Formats: sequence, C-alpha cells, structure tokens
Amino acid sequence: MKKILIGLCLALAASAAHAQKFEGLAKTPQMGWNSWNKFACNVNEQMIRETADAMVSSGMKDAGYLYVNIDDCWHGERDAKGFIQAHAEHFPSGMKALADYVHSKGLKLGIYSDAGWKTCGGRPGSRGYEYQDALTFAQWGIDYLKYDWCETQGLKAEGAYLTMREALRKAGRPVLFSLCEWGDNQPWEWGKPVGHSWRTTGDIWDCFDCIVDHGTWKSRGVLQILDLQDGLRVHAGPDHWNDADMMEVGNGGMTVNEDRAHFSIWAMLASPLIAGNDIRNMSKETTAILTNKAVIALNQDALGVQSFRYAARDGVEYWFKPLEGGDWGFMALNRNKDARKIRFDWEAENVKDDLSKRHADFGKMRYKLRNLWTGKSAGNAGKPLAADLPGHDVLVLRLSAY
Ligand code: GLA
Repeated sequence: MKKILIGLCLALAASAAHAQKFEGLAKTPQMGWNSWNKFACNVNEQMIRETADAMVSSGMKDAGYLYVNIDDCWHGERDAKGFIQAHAEHFPSGMKALADYVHSKGLKLGIYSDAGWKTCGGRPGSRGYEYQDALTFAQWGIDYLKYDWCETQGLKAEGAYLTMREALRKAGRPVLFSLCEWGDNQPWEWGKPVGHSWRTTGDIWDCFDCIVDHGTWKSRGVLQILDLQDGLRVHAGPDHWNDADMMEVGNGGMTVNEDRAHFSIWAMLASPLIAGNDIRNMSKETTAILTNKAVIALNQDALGVQSFRYAARDGVEYWFKPLEGGDWGFMALNRNKDARKIRFDWEAENVKDDLSKRHADFGKMRYKLRNLWTGKSAGNAGKPLAADLPGHDVLVLRLSAY
C-alpha cells in the first residue's frame, strides 16, 4: 500500500512537473497590437478601448490582428494578500471590465509582467508571486502574457519562464505566453516547450539602419535586428516563433518605403506581427502596409517555415520563404540608401532549402509571379526579373507553381 502511495505521489509530481504549455495558440505567428513602442508608460483603459475599436474599424481585425496588448505600467500596488491591482486612476473600471469589452469586439486582451522583482518600468514584477499573478490574470480574462526579464539578477531564465508557464497552466485559462528575454540566454534553445514565441534581441528603435546606445543596453533599427536573426530559423515553427520585436510601422521614424520594407521583413521572418503605432490615427499608407493581406499571408503560411537569405549582391539581399502547397515567398531587399537596378535570372539560380527540403528548381518548374505590394502580376519565372529598387525598399513576390 505504502509503495503504491509513493508511486502515485511520484507519478503526480512528474505529471505536474511536465505540464505542457497551452498548445496550439500560435500555429501561425500571433498578430496584434502592443502599447509600448508608441505610448510607453502612458496607458489607460480609455486608450485601450479606443484601440480595440480601431482594430475593427481600420480593417486590422479583418486582416488577422487579434490581440490588444497592454505593455508595462498598467500596475497599481499589491494588496495586503499580495494580489496585484491595476492602476486605480488609469484603469478605474478594472481589468475584468476591459477584457469583457475587448472580447465583445471579437478580440483578445494581453498583459505584461516580468520574471524579476520589478518590471523594466519599475512596477511590481511577478518574482515570488507567479501563481498569484497567473490566477489574477485568468480571473480578469487575460489571453496573452508578455513576460519580461528586468531585475532578474541571480535567476536562471529557463527556470524562471518555466515557473510562469506552470503557473499559467495551473490557473487554467489558455494564455499565449510570449517570452521577452531579449535573446540573452538563447531562448530559442529551450523556449519551444515553454512559450509560443521568444524575443531574439533587445528593443527595436524606430529607424531603418541605426543603433542607439543607452549605456548599459542598446536598441536597434530594422536592419540590425534582421542581422541578429542569422542562424535562428531552424528553431522556429508552428507554436514556437522567433520574435523580432513589436513593429514601428507608422511611428514616424521611417519613410513609407522603410516601413514597407520593415513589415515585409517581419512577414518573411515569420515573426509575430504586433503593431506598435497609434492605430486610432493612421495615415492611409500605414493602414495599407499593416493590412496588406497578401504579405500577411506569407507570414501566416501554415507551413510555418522562416525565410532564408539566399544571396546578397551589391547591398541587395534575396530572401526566399517556402510556403504550403509548393509556393514561395520572395523578397529583394535594398539595404542601400540609394536605388539599385536589380536583375535576377531565376533559371540561373539554384534555390534549395535544407530545412524544409524544398527546391524551387526553376529549370523544371514553372512559376507565375505576383507583386504583393502592387497587387499586380509580374509575369513568370521563365524570364529574368529586372527592376529598379528604391533605397531602403523591397520587392516582394509570391511565386506560384503552375
Ligand atoms: C523591455 C522590453 C520592451 C518593453 C519594456 C517595458 O525593454 O523589451 O519591449 O516591454 O521593457 O518597460
């Protein structure tokens, strides 16, 4: 009897220790909006409600954006029993009411916390309160948790993120778990059973090609973040994505060409597509970029294979993304400030991908081409592609076998 009991206890302990993340919440990269890039600590319930409204009225919901995510600084204090409260003045109706509102629009609500004692904005972190916080988030109706890595001295990243995974699981409400550890501890090596995506870099900056040094840390522009993705594609796939950070499209630091290139790169990288601008007030150019369904389809492709850099010539990179059903996504990215004439002779190239075991084989296969930014046919791969590419811009095609 004693033996049976011990066996039972061991089995229970083992099953608890191996509880899975909530599977299937990000079969394709998650899409949504996050407050940080534009609003930093200036978050309140009115703005979040208006953003949910705008997600619907702008066409973003229709294009696939689902999550409305509140980043840092929504917090008040912990109560006497240690339960975290939303900031009473900025969220007077409370998080539950806000979640109900967001849900009534057919959208989902995300929140932010931190594995350390404090968040990066100095608000209460979840360290030591993981189970209480996960329970609170579940009671509020939260669907998404971005979990940051400030004030974590002495903690092991994998363990800290596993603790929160377990806490979310225990709380019982399915929550997409977004690891924000900046790539410091190689989350791509251990993140797959833990969360649905992991940040691969430090924070983005609203520029196409720059590095901003803050002393102890740096933020990076689009090209710098892109370059840090080298070698990481083998780790990504359905339900576990490399996260290149929230986007800066529409925040004013980049030209329309650059914003378009930024969005295309994120789509090709199969990164989560989390808008970071004020979607209540968007120019028509910004709306057109964020809601381009054909480009989004590259990102949301069910095969879930991240693209690869096939070649780089004269500062222009040629990227390919294998797609379901034999199609390919193609991006020519002009990293130069000034224009380039490009020529790409499909039949002279040998586009093969060891990861997906796909071969474009332009000698044997016939592909028709569609330009995904103009929406127009671009002929077929039977003749070389010739184009003028403005500086810091892209040409994005979908190649469909016929
Ligand atoms: C870190 C994260 C950012 C943002 C801020 C909030 O820097 O990487 O994305 O969440 O914290 O303070």
